Amino acid sequence: MRKQIVAGNWKMNKTLDQGLQLVSEIVNMVQDEVHNGALVVLCPPFTHLQSVVHLTKGRTNVFVGAQNCSDKVSGAFTGEVSAEMLASLGVQYVILGHSERREYFAETNAQLAAKVDLALANGLKPIFCCGETLFQRQEQDYKALVCEQLTESLFHLSADQITGFVIAYEPIWAIGTGLTASKEQAQEMHLTIRDHFAAKYGAEVAASLSILYGGSAKPSNAPELFANPDVDGGLIGGASLLSRDFTDIVKAL
Ligand code: PGA
Repeated sequence: MRKQIVAGNWKMNKTLDQGLQLVSEIVNMVQDEVHNGALVVLCPPFTHLQSVVHLTKGRTNVFVGAQNCSDKVSGAFTGEVSAEMLASLGVQYVILGHSERREYFAETNAQLAAKVDLALANGLKPIFCCGETLFQRQEQDYKALVCEQLTESLFHLSADQITGFVIAYEPIWAIGTGLTASKEQAQEMHLTIRDHFAAKYGAEVAASLSILYGGSAKPSNAPELFANPDVDGGLIGGASLLSRDFTDIVKAL
Protein backbone atom coordinates (compact mmCIF):
# COMPACT_ATOMS: atom_id res chain seq x y z
CA MET A 1 0.00 0.00 0.00
CA ARG A 2 1.40 3.38 -0.96
CA LYS A 3 1.57 6.17 1.60
CA GLN A 4 -0.91 9.03 1.74
CA ILE A 5 0.97 12.27 2.44
CA VAL A 6 0.14 15.91 3.00
CA ALA A 7 3.26 18.06 2.85
CA GLY A 8 3.40 21.78 3.67
CA ASN A 9 5.79 23.88 1.59
CA TRP A 10 6.21 27.12 3.53
CA LYS A 11 8.49 28.65 0.86
CA MET A 12 10.20 31.83 2.16
CA ASN A 13 7.64 32.63 4.85
CA LYS A 14 7.55 32.91 8.65
CA THR A 15 10.17 34.08 11.15
CA LEU A 16 11.48 31.42 13.51
CA ASP A 17 9.01 32.38 16.26
CA GLN A 18 6.07 32.45 13.85
CA GLY A 19 7.14 29.12 12.39
CA LEU A 20 7.42 27.38 15.73
CA GLN A 21 4.02 28.72 16.73
CA LEU A 22 2.55 27.28 13.52
CA VAL A 23 4.22 23.90 14.08
CA SER A 24 2.91 23.71 17.67
CA GLU A 25 -0.62 24.42 16.47
CA ILE A 26 -0.41 21.89 13.63
CA VAL A 27 1.08 19.17 15.81
CA ASN A 28 -1.73 19.60 18.35
CA MET A 29 -4.46 19.78 15.74
CA VAL A 30 -3.40 16.80 13.63
CA GLN A 31 -2.88 14.62 16.70
CA ASP A 32 -5.94 12.48 16.09
CA GLU A 33 -6.47 13.21 12.43
CA VAL A 34 -3.78 11.18 10.75
CA HIS A 35 -4.96 7.63 10.25
CA ASN A 36 -4.03 4.52 8.31
CA GLY A 37 -0.34 5.28 8.14
CA ALA A 38 -0.91 8.68 6.50
CA LEU A 39 1.90 11.19 6.97
CA VAL A 40 2.30 14.91 7.42
CA VAL A 41 5.57 16.51 6.25
CA LEU A 42 6.40 20.08 7.28
CA CYS A 43 8.90 21.89 5.03
CA PRO A 44 9.98 25.17 6.65
CA PRO A 45 12.96 27.29 5.55
CA PHE A 46 16.47 25.93 6.29
CA THR A 47 16.91 28.26 9.27
CA HIS A 48 13.98 26.65 11.12
CA LEU A 49 14.71 23.00 10.42
CA GLN A 50 16.61 22.08 13.55
CA SER A 51 13.99 23.63 15.84
CA VAL A 52 11.13 22.02 13.93
CA VAL A 53 12.84 18.61 14.10
CA HIS A 54 13.10 19.14 17.86
CA LEU A 55 9.42 20.17 18.20
CA THR A 56 8.14 17.15 16.26
CA LYS A 57 10.44 14.55 17.86
CA GLY A 58 8.64 11.40 18.91
CA ARG A 59 5.73 11.98 16.51
CA THR A 60 5.29 8.95 14.31
CA ASN A 61 3.11 10.72 11.72
CA VAL A 62 4.74 14.16 11.44
CA PHE A 63 8.04 14.50 9.57
CA VAL A 64 10.27 17.36 8.56
CA GLY A 65 11.49 18.23 5.08
CA ALA A 66 13.78 20.83 3.53
CA GLN A 67 12.78 22.78 0.42
CA ASN A 68 15.99 22.15 -1.52
CA CYS A 69 19.53 20.81 -1.21
CA SER A 70 22.75 21.34 -3.12
CA ASP A 71 23.78 19.24 -6.11
CA LYS A 72 27.33 19.20 -4.70
CA VAL A 73 28.68 17.02 -1.89
CA SER A 74 30.56 19.75 0.04
CA GLY A 75 33.16 22.48 -0.38
CA ALA A 76 33.46 26.00 -1.72
CA PHE A 77 29.83 26.68 -2.67
CA THR A 78 28.91 29.76 -0.66
CA GLY A 79 25.34 29.81 0.52
CA GLU A 80 24.58 26.19 -0.36
CA VAL A 81 23.27 23.51 2.02
CA SER A 82 24.18 19.88 1.42
CA ALA A 83 22.03 16.78 1.73
CA GLU A 84 24.47 15.48 4.35
CA MET A 85 23.96 18.60 6.48
CA LEU A 86 20.18 18.17 6.32
CA ALA A 87 20.41 14.52 7.29
CA SER A 88 22.65 15.47 10.23
CA LEU A 89 19.78 17.61 11.61
CA GLY A 90 17.34 14.71 11.55
CA VAL A 91 15.49 16.00 8.47
CA GLN A 92 13.82 13.11 6.60
CA TYR A 93 12.43 14.62 3.38
CA VAL A 94 13.57 17.17 0.79
CA ILE A 95 11.50 18.89 -1.90
CA LEU A 96 13.44 18.81 -5.18
CA GLY A 97 12.64 20.35 -8.54
CA HIS A 98 9.97 22.78 -7.40
CA SER A 99 8.93 24.96 -10.34
CA GLU A 100 10.12 28.09 -8.49
CA ARG A 101 13.62 26.55 -8.23
CA ARG A 102 13.49 25.56 -11.90
CA GLU A 103 12.33 29.02 -12.99
CA TYR A 104 14.13 31.49 -10.67
CA PHE A 105 17.29 29.47 -10.01
CA ALA A 106 17.55 27.82 -13.44
CA GLU A 107 17.66 24.28 -12.07
CA THR A 108 17.90 21.73 -14.86
CA ASN A 109 16.75 18.13 -15.05
CA ALA A 110 20.40 17.01 -14.99
CA GLN A 111 21.16 19.07 -11.87
CA LEU A 112 18.07 17.65 -10.23
CA ALA A 113 19.27 14.12 -10.99
CA ALA A 114 22.45 14.94 -9.02
CA LYS A 115 20.39 16.34 -6.14
CA VAL A 116 18.21 13.24 -6.07
CA ASP A 117 21.31 11.02 -5.92
CA LEU A 118 22.80 12.99 -3.03
CA ALA A 119 19.51 13.04 -1.15
CA LEU A 120 19.14 9.26 -1.46
CA ALA A 121 22.81 8.65 -0.58
CA ASN A 122 22.20 10.54 2.66
CA GLY A 123 18.97 8.75 3.54
CA LEU A 124 16.65 11.65 2.63
CA LYS A 125 13.38 10.98 0.81
CA PRO A 126 12.90 13.36 -2.13
CA ILE A 127 9.50 14.88 -2.86
CA PHE A 128 10.18 15.32 -6.56
CA CYS A 129 8.14 18.03 -8.31
CA CYS A 130 7.09 18.13 -11.93
CA GLY A 131 4.53 20.13 -13.88
CA GLU A 132 3.79 22.21 -16.97
CA THR A 133 3.26 25.93 -17.59
CA LEU A 134 -0.01 27.31 -18.97
CA PHE A 135 1.66 27.87 -22.35
CA GLN A 136 2.84 24.27 -22.42
CA ARG A 137 -0.62 23.01 -21.49
CA GLN A 138 -2.30 25.05 -24.21
CA GLU A 139 0.24 24.85 -27.01
CA GLN A 140 2.42 21.79 -26.50
CA ASP A 141 2.41 18.12 -25.61
CA TYR A 142 2.33 18.81 -21.87
CA LYS A 143 2.11 15.15 -20.89
CA ALA A 144 5.31 14.41 -22.79
CA LEU A 145 7.02 17.43 -21.20
CA VAL A 146 6.16 16.31 -17.67
CA CYS A 147 7.25 12.74 -18.45
CA GLU A 148 10.53 14.12 -19.80
CA GLN A 149 11.21 15.89 -16.47
CA LEU A 150 10.75 12.56 -14.70
CA THR A 151 12.79 10.55 -17.21
CA GLU A 152 15.75 12.92 -17.16
CA SER A 153 15.95 13.29 -13.39
CA LEU A 154 14.80 9.90 -12.09
CA PHE A 155 15.03 7.10 -14.65
CA HIS A 156 18.68 6.37 -13.86
CA LEU A 157 17.53 5.07 -10.46
CA SER A 158 17.01 1.38 -9.72
CA ALA A 159 13.59 -0.18 -9.17
CA ASP A 160 14.47 -0.49 -5.47
CA GLN A 161 15.23 3.22 -5.26
CA ILE A 162 12.01 4.15 -7.06
CA THR A 163 9.81 1.90 -4.93
CA GLY A 164 7.81 4.11 -2.58
CA PHE A 165 9.15 7.31 -4.18
CA VAL A 166 7.19 10.55 -3.65
CA ILE A 167 6.31 12.64 -6.72
CA ALA A 168 4.43 15.95 -6.62
CA TYR A 169 2.52 16.91 -9.75
CA GLU A 170 2.17 20.69 -9.67
CA PRO A 171 0.71 22.40 -12.74
CA ILE A 172 2.60 25.71 -12.70
CA TRP A 173 -0.49 27.62 -13.81
CA ALA A 174 -2.19 26.52 -10.58
CA ILE A 175 0.58 27.44 -8.11
CA GLY A 176 -0.33 30.42 -5.97
CA THR A 177 -2.81 31.60 -8.61
CA GLY A 178 -6.05 30.44 -7.06
CA LEU A 179 -6.62 28.30 -10.16
CA THR A 180 -6.75 24.62 -9.28
CA ALA A 181 -6.59 21.71 -11.65
CA SER A 182 -10.02 20.12 -11.83
CA LYS A 183 -10.52 16.71 -10.30
CA GLU A 184 -10.39 15.24 -13.82
CA GLN A 185 -7.28 17.15 -14.88
CA ALA A 186 -5.44 16.02 -11.74
CA GLN A 187 -6.44 12.36 -12.17
CA GLU A 188 -5.47 12.40 -15.84
CA MET A 189 -1.96 13.65 -15.10
CA HIS A 190 -1.43 11.45 -12.03
CA LEU A 191 -2.37 8.40 -14.08
CA THR A 192 -0.09 9.54 -16.92
CA ILE A 193 2.77 9.81 -14.41
CA ARG A 194 2.05 6.41 -12.86
CA ASP A 195 1.83 4.80 -16.32
CA HIS A 196 5.14 6.41 -17.28
CA PHE A 197 6.82 4.74 -14.30
CA ALA A 198 5.00 1.47 -14.99
CA ALA A 199 6.43 1.38 -18.53
CA LYS A 200 9.97 1.61 -17.14
CA TYR A 201 9.74 -0.14 -13.75
CA GLY A 202 6.61 -2.31 -13.95
CA ALA A 203 3.14 -2.02 -12.48
CA GLU A 204 4.06 -3.04 -8.96
CA VAL A 205 6.72 -0.35 -8.54
CA ALA A 206 4.40 2.24 -10.14
CA ALA A 207 1.62 1.30 -7.71
CA SER A 208 3.96 1.97 -4.77
CA LEU A 209 4.53 5.64 -5.73
CA SER A 210 2.88 8.37 -3.70
CA ILE A 211 1.84 11.00 -6.25
CA LEU A 212 0.83 14.26 -4.55
CA TYR A 213 -1.12 17.09 -6.15
CA GLY A 214 0.04 20.70 -5.67
CA GLY A 215 -1.36 24.02 -6.88
CA SER A 216 -3.86 26.11 -4.89
CA ALA A 217 -5.05 23.10 -2.91
CA LYS A 218 -7.24 24.20 -0.02
CA PRO A 219 -9.80 22.76 2.41
CA SER A 220 -12.64 23.32 -0.08
CA ASN A 221 -11.09 21.41 -3.00
CA ALA A 222 -8.88 18.87 -1.19
CA PRO A 223 -11.65 16.27 -0.65
CA GLU A 224 -12.49 15.96 -4.36
CA LEU A 225 -8.84 16.03 -5.45
CA PHE A 226 -7.87 13.36 -2.90
CA ALA A 227 -10.83 11.18 -3.88
CA ASN A 228 -9.11 10.43 -7.21
CA PRO A 229 -7.63 6.92 -7.30
CA ASP A 230 -4.18 8.16 -8.35
CA VAL A 231 -3.95 11.23 -6.09
CA ASP A 232 -2.20 10.18 -2.88
CA GLY A 233 -2.20 13.50 -1.04
CA GLY A 234 -0.99 17.03 -1.58
CA LEU A 235 1.93 19.42 -1.57
CA ILE A 236 0.43 22.54 -0.06
CA GLY A 237 1.88 26.06 -0.35
CA GLY A 238 -0.26 29.01 0.76
CA ALA A 239 -2.74 26.97 2.80
CA SER A 240 0.10 25.32 4.78
CA LEU A 241 0.78 28.67 6.48
CA LEU A 242 -2.56 28.57 8.33
CA SER A 243 -2.87 25.81 10.91
CA ARG A 244 -6.65 25.46 10.53
CA ASP A 245 -6.57 25.23 6.74
CA PHE A 246 -3.63 22.85 6.72
CA THR A 247 -5.24 20.58 9.30
CA ASP A 248 -8.51 20.57 7.37
CA ILE A 249 -6.58 19.43 4.29
CA VAL A 250 -4.96 16.66 6.34
CA LYS A 251 -8.45 15.63 7.50
CA ALA A 252 -9.52 15.36 3.85
CA LEU A 253 -7.08 12.49 3.27
P1 PGA B 1 0.15 26.79 -3.55
O1 PGA B 1 1.67 26.25 -3.75
O2 PGA B 1 -0.55 25.75 -2.73
O3 PGA B 1 0.33 28.08 -2.81
O4 PGA B 1 -0.42 26.96 -4.90
C1 PGA B 1 1.93 24.89 -3.97
C2 PGA B 1 3.41 24.70 -4.15
O5 PGA B 1 4.04 25.56 -4.78
O6 PGA B 1 3.98 23.70 -3.68
